[in-house]
Amino acid sequence: MDAPIGVFDSGVGGLTVVREIMRQLPSENVIYFGDTARVPYGSKSKATVLKFSKQIVRFLMTKNVKAIVFACNTASALALEDMRDEITVPVVGVVRPGARMAVSMTDTKSVGIIGTYGTIKSGIYTEYIRQLDKNVTVVGKACPLFVPLVEEGLLEDRITDDMVERYLSELKQYNVDALVLGCTHYPLLVNPIKRFMGDGVTLVNPAYETAKELKNILAKNDLLNEGKKNPGYEFYVSDGVDKFKSFADRVLPINVGEVQVVDIESY
Ligand code: DGL
Repeated sequence: MDAPIGVFDSGVGGLTVVREIMRQLPSENVIYFGDTARVPYGSKSKATVLKFSKQIVRFLMTKNVKAIVFACNTASALALEDMRDEITVPVVGVVRPGARMAVSMTDTKSVGIIGTYGTIKSGIYTEYIRQLDKNVTVVGKACPLFVPLVEEGLLEDRITDDMVERYLSELKQYNVDALVLGCTHYPLLVNPIKRFMGDGVTLVNPAYETAKELKNILAKNDLLNEGKKNPGYEFYVSDGVDKFKSFADRVLPINVGEVQVVDIESY
C-alpha cells in the first residue's frame, strides 16, 4: 500500500527516526512534521504535549497516512497512550521499543535512561523495562542542555564533552551496562557519550528498534509498500524552514528539497 507513513517530533530530532525508517523501509513514503515553532516539548506539561500531539495527528490524518510514528520520546511518554484509542491507523512510539532493546542488552541488570525532564519525570521507561524484567534497576537522568547543543551543531565540541561529564558522572557510578538515548537528539551525540561512558556500556538508540517495530506492524496489517523504487518524502514544520532544512540535509542521506510551513494551531 503506497499511502505514506506519518512521522512527527517536536522539531528536528525525529529525523534520526526517519533516517532509520529510510534504512529499514526503503520503499515507504514518509510525511514528516517537526513542531519547530513550539519546541522544546521536554520542559512542558503533559496537558500541553497532549494538545500539541493531537493537533499534529489531525494534520497527519489529512495526508491520509497509513500509520503514525511518534518520533519524539516526550510525546511518546506523555501523550501516546492517552491518544491511542482515538487514532484509527496503527501507531508506534519510541519508548516501548527502546525499553525492549535495553532489556535485551543488559547483563548487569542495570540500565541508564537519559532524556528530557518530561520523559524522565514520567517514569515510563522504568515502567516498561520493569514490565519486561522486574529485576532490572533503572537509573534516569534528565539532560536538557543536550538538545540545544545538538541544535547548534556542537556535536564534537569541548562544551559538549563538559556537559556529558556533568550529566553522566553520577550514572557512571551505578555500573549501568546499557544506556538508553531516550531523546531523539541524543543519537547525534553518540561519540562524546561513548567516549565518556566507555566500551563497557552499550548505547541504545530506540530509533533502530522503532523502525523494526513499524516494519512488523505494517507487515502484520498488510500495509507494506512492496517493490516501489523511488519513495517520496515530504517535510513540514511550524516555523524556521531554513534552520530545519540545513539540519535535515546533514542528518538524512537525501536532499530534503522543499519544506512547507503548516499553521498547526489551526488543526
Ligand atoms: N524530541 C524531544 C524528545 O525526544 C526532544 C526535544 C524536546 O524537548 O522537544 O524528547
